[in-house]
Amino acid sequence: MHLMFLGAPGAGKGTQAKILEQKLDALQVSTGDILRKSIEAKSELGLKAKGYMDAGHLVPDDLMIELIGEKFAEPEFPKNWIMDGFPRTVAQAEAFDSLLTRLNEKLDYVVEVDVDRDLLVKRITGRRVCKNCQAPYHVTFNPSKADGICDYCGSTDIYQRADDKEDIVINRLKVYDEQTAPLINYYKAKNLLFRMDGNAPVEAVTNLILDIVSKS
Ligand code: AP5
Repeated sequence: MHLMFLGAPGAGKGTQAKILEQKLDALQVSTGDILRKSIEAKSELGLKAKGYMDAGHLVPDDLMIELIGEKFAEPEFPKNWIMDGFPRTVAQAEAFDSLLTRLNEKLDYVVEVDVDRDLLVKRITGRRVCKNCQAPYHVTFNPSKADGICDYCGSTDIYQRADDKEDIVINRLKVYDEQTAPLINYYKAKNLLFRMDGNAPVEAVTNLILDIVSKS
């Protein structure tokens, strides 16, 4: 099962990928999470990426394409995967196509999670994230079951991302419209695109995705 999420910042890609990892026995490949861990570790990639991420810009394509190539080359990389945050530009999508062809793999579904713009801003500015396992929560819409404790790993280190402040969020949405939204037509032309309404509560959205995956 090879699934890819497309959608604006805050659409719920990470939330759904984390849930589906367990339900579909597939690995969530979140480039945002990988970059944040690299920043935390002060690795060369992290040092290069930090300025772009803090400003709400995309990290350059060559760095991202190299990162994904290395991830797929890891010996323990699994058969089933869910792409969350990659590709983000047409150049990345083309490089990903070449990588999959080289590996003799193919993409099964591209799910576009479509959410109203005003709701996106509310979702991102109220988001909190587990520092240990990156699970996303929302102070009102999607709190953890026990206050301040991660449902997935039990960590109490739950924080607000630096790029989740409103002025940066506005820039991230603009970058999405200009550089990532063209991928909707890119995957539509390949007959891989499934658009779904992501405005509903988390569980309802999960069920819509499971419907797509089970019927097609
Ligand atoms: P990344 O971490 O990928 O951020 P993003 O794409 O901006 O996506 P978000 O994490 O903001 O949103 P999401 O859709 O995952 O929403 P979530 O599930 O958390 O990237 C960060 C940065 O890294 C980029 O800006 C860029 O600089 C760089 N980067 C990463 N990949 C790159 C690439 N390929 N190329 C270049 N640069 C790259 O949900 C949001 C909130 O809503 C949460 O609080 C959640 O609890 C809540 N929520 C979710 N679903 C629902 C629901 N159905 N109902 C109510 N609340 C919900």
